[in-house]
Amino acid sequence: RLRIAVLASGRGSNLQALIDARAAGVFDAEFAGVFSDRPDAVALQRAAGAGIPRQALRPVDFADRAAFDDAFFDAVAAVQPDLIVCAGYMRLIGERHVVRFADRMINIHPSLLPAHPGLHTHRRALEDGVRRHGASVHYVIPAVDAGPVLAQAAVDVRAGDTPDSLGERVLAREHVLLPACVALIAGGRLRYDGGRVVLDGAPLTRPLQ
Ligand code: GAR
Repeated sequence: RLRIAVLASGRGSNLQALIDARAAGVFDAEFAGVFSDRPDAVALQRAAGAGIPRQALRPVDFADRAAFDDAFFDAVAAVQPDLIVCAGYMRLIGERHVVRFADRMINIHPSLLPAHPGLHTHRRALEDGVRRHGASVHYVIPAVDAGPVLAQAAVDVRAGDTPDSLGERVLAREHVLLPACVALIAGGRLRYDGGRVVLDGAPLTRPLQ
């Protein structure tokens, strides 16, 4: 069984979606641990509720970013994950650790990448006047929000949308998208191989929808 580590900084609704999806039989895998850079993250309570081992490390307790990352990712590595899911993990991850876990770290990002990497994606999508917005799941590479996208879910932007109303519809799609991606990986259908996403033995030419 695939061992999954989840990294989360906040509310943890995507973690909850994964917990619920596993319980519903959407995928067969084991949660090896939930890791947070914030001891007060609701995600940790959700992990506790599901009986998943959890650990929080605070960046302020370390000399610098690299020292935090070293300790944080050593803790992650200690649970021997086959897959690391960044589900609302809001810190940049140092290149050393991205490389260390290359091919087994995915991230969910609230935009249709390559549009709107970074923060405040819903507000920026509205400012740009796009008609379609959404979420992407991608493999993590050293450049931020730039790794190969395996799947996306799109929503129509509506007249009168605010960042909150748009973000809420995107989030609902995230909660289906992320478990679906984990199911493909846990089922052995999808992997990251030599810089390419491979689905059922063939390179993926565009993101799954
Ligand atoms: C989600 O919308 C996720 O896509 C986004 O943060 C939210 C976390 O919500 N991630 C990023 O912006 C990564 N840069 P959650 O804690 O309820 O899952």
